Amino acid sequence: MDLTNRPRRLRRTDAIRRLSRETRLSPEALIYPIFVDEALSGVRPIESLPGQNHYGLDSVCQAVEECLAHGVKHCILFGLPAEKDACGSSAWAEHGVIQEAVRTIKTKYPDFTVITDVCMCEYTDHGHCGILHGHEVDNDETLAHLARIAVSHAAAGADMVAPSDMMDGHVAALRRALDANGFQQTAIMAYSAKYASAFYGPFRAAAGSAPSFGDRKGYQMDPHNRKEAMRECRLDAEEGADILMVKPALSYLDVIRECSNAFDLPMCAYSVSGEYAMIKAAAAAGLVDERRIMCETALSVFRAGADMLITYYAKELADAIREKEIG
Ligand code: PBG
Repeated sequence: MDLTNRPRRLRRTDAIRRLSRETRLSPEALIYPIFVDEALSGVRPIESLPGQNHYGLDSVCQAVEECLAHGVKHCILFGLPAEKDACGSSAWAEHGVIQEAVRTIKTKYPDFTVITDVCMCEYTDHGHCGILHGHEVDNDETLAHLARIAVSHAAAGADMVAPSDMMDGHVAALRRALDANGFQQTAIMAYSAKYASAFYGPFRAAAGSAPSFGDRKGYQMDPHNRKEAMRECRLDAEEGADILMVKPALSYLDVIRECSNAFDLPMCAYSVSGEYAMIKAAAAAGLVDERRIMCETALSVFRAGADMLITYYAKELADAIREKEIG
């Protein structure tokens, strides 16, 4: 038959398919979430996230060593403090769980990238991401606390701080405070378009950070909105963010694509706890091939325009890339 175009020519051999690939993945673009529990000694499996662990301060380096063994070079830390109060004061304590974890990791593994989640929900006794007045989170009062948390993380040696609170003006508040304290080189990875999502369920169970009343819809984004994500990214960029983020990933691929087209900052996506837990549950039920689904979903996030990915599958994905299953 007389066909001018035969797309199948580029699908003929494995080598040619690899040659003509549009999306390339690297283990260097993966970030692994590590949960550190101040009250724990050793390692304890997380029930809501099969295959994931809580680490005590005495074993947090084990989590890093596991990452390095798979070629994963970056982590984001989440803390479970021993004490909570109304204003989340353990979040900025000099010897708080995250501050100690950062020091421990950076002393032993200075080249391993440590990003810290800057938020208050794990540290407040009410589980909201800021300071409450009645049932409202007070934006401007919360900013001062977030800035204090970020400075304490930077002082402990964090490479980047990642504000996940969704307060207005948070990036500017953090940048100003970091600079004023001599941390001009500490980068800000902004959770710019963070939606009020049901996909955070397993994380909240793992981190003990579910709100004790109400929800987070007064500060996290409405899942109906796309243009608002652009506005959030633009504001964070103007306020000095070094990296923008869309979260969750899989249900927001359109947002990742649009934001990565529109902004000249690196774009991170966060494949959140519910995305991971759903694949685990489907695989455990024998319904899907876990490894292939893991690869295909991660690939879709990069194809949508993400430059880097936070994922609970970071180690397994790094293996899959190295073993040429994807990449
Ligand atoms: C803290 C925070 C949350 C997640 C990351 N940082 C929970 C939330 O906003 O309720 C969720 C991550 C995940 O589900 O994997 N605010």
